[in-house]
Amino acid sequence: MSTFAKKLIAWHSVSGRSGLPWQGNRDPYAVWVSEIMLQQTQVATVLERYPRFMKRFPTVKKLAAADIDEVLAEWAGLGYYSRARNLHACAKQVMQEFSGKFPNDPILLEQLKGIGRSTAGAIAAFAFHERAPILDANVKRILARLFAVDGAIQDKVVNDRLWQLANDLLPNQPENMPVYTQALMDFGATWCTARKPVCMGVEKKCPFAKECQANLSDQVLTLPKKMIKAKSPEFDCDMLLVRSGNFVLLQKRPSKAIWGGLWSLPESGWRSKTEQACKGPPTLKELLTNTLPRENIAGLAKSIKELKQGNQIKHIFTHRRLWMQIWEGRSAKTIEFLGEDLKWVPLGQLGRYGLPQPIKILLQGLSLARGDDLKN
Ligand code: ADE
Repeated sequence: MSTFAKKLIAWHSVSGRSGLPWQGNRDPYAVWVSEIMLQQTQVATVLERYPRFMKRFPTVKKLAAADIDEVLAEWAGLGYYSRARNLHACAKQVMQEFSGKFPNDPILLEQLKGIGRSTAGAIAAFAFHERAPILDANVKRILARLFAVDGAIQDKVVNDRLWQLANDLLPNQPENMPVYTQALMDFGATWCTARKPVCMGVEKKCPFAKECQANLSDQVLTLPKKMIKAKSPEFDCDMLLVRSGNFVLLQKRPSKAIWGGLWSLPESGWRSKTEQACKGPPTLKELLTNTLPRENIAGLAKSIKELKQGNQIKHIFTHRRLWMQIWEGRSAKTIEFLGEDLKWVPLGQLGRYGLPQPIKILLQGLSLARGDDLKN
C-alpha cells in the first residue's frame, strides 16, 4: 500500500468519522442515496433525513415506481431539488437499463443521471470495493497542497493531473477502498480545510506535515489556486407595466427564449449594458415600438397616454445579469382582442399564469395592494 494510503487509514482510525448510518453498507442503492444527499447537505442534516428517505423508498424499485411529486415531497427542505429529480430519473434508468442492479464499473455508473465522475468513484469504492478514485472539492484541495499543484483547479490540465494523482495514491488492496475513500473525505472536511487547516494551528499535528509540499513551501493557504471568475455580462431591457382598471397587459414569451413559454410583461430586446450607458430615456413611441408586436402598436398607442419610469429590477441568472426597467402606464380600454400571445389579464387571475419569478413578485405587489391572491 502507498505510504499515503497507509497513513491516511491510520489517521482515520483515530480521527475520522465512524458509525454513520450509511457506512459499512454495501448495498449500492443505500450508498448512492447517501452520496447524493451528502453532496450539498451537511452531515448533521443527512443523519436526520437519510433514514427517513430509506424508510420511505427502501429499494431502487420502490423509488423508480414512485411518483416524482412523492420524491420531491420527501426531499422537501434539503434544497437543490434537481438532485431529487435526478435521483428519481436514475432509479428508473437502473430499473430499465440494468434490470434493477447498479453496475459496479465507475464508467457505467457515471452514465447514470446525476452521477458525476467523483460520485461514481465513491459508489464503486464503497459498494463494490473497486479501486476507483474520487476527486471532490475537498480531495482536490488535499492533493493540490500535498503536491503543490500550481494553476487553477478548474483548468483542464490541472484537473487531469489531480485525477492522475488521485489514481496513483489508491491503496493496492480493494478491501481497503471503503475506509480509504471515507478517510479522504473526512480528512478534507475536518483537517485539511480551506481556511483553517490543522497545520496552521497548534493543537493537532498533520500526519503529512513533513511531506506536504505546500506546507514545506508555506503555500497552504494559497493552494489550491482558483480561477478568477469573469464577471457575468450585464444586460438591460425595458418592460411595460400597463394596467387598465383591474387588468394588466401580459405577453407570452417565445418558447426558446429565457423563461420560454411563461407570461411576462411586454419587453424590449436585451441590450448590453455598456452599449446603453450614454443614451437618454426612450420616448413613449420608442417604448411601444420596442416592446409590442407591430400589429398592436397603433391600437395601444391611442389608449396609453403616458409611461412613467418605475423601478429597475435586477435579476441574476447563472451566466448573466439583467436589469429590467419598468415603465408604468394606464390604458383607457381593454376590450380589443390583441392576439394569442398578448392579452389583458385580470389581476385576480394571475395565479393561473406561469410567470417568471421577479415578475411574479412585482405583480404580487400590485395584487396584494388590491387584496387579490396570486394563488387563485
Ligand atoms: N460527503 C460526500 N460523501 C460523504 C461521505 N460518505 N461521508 C461524509 N461526507 C460526505
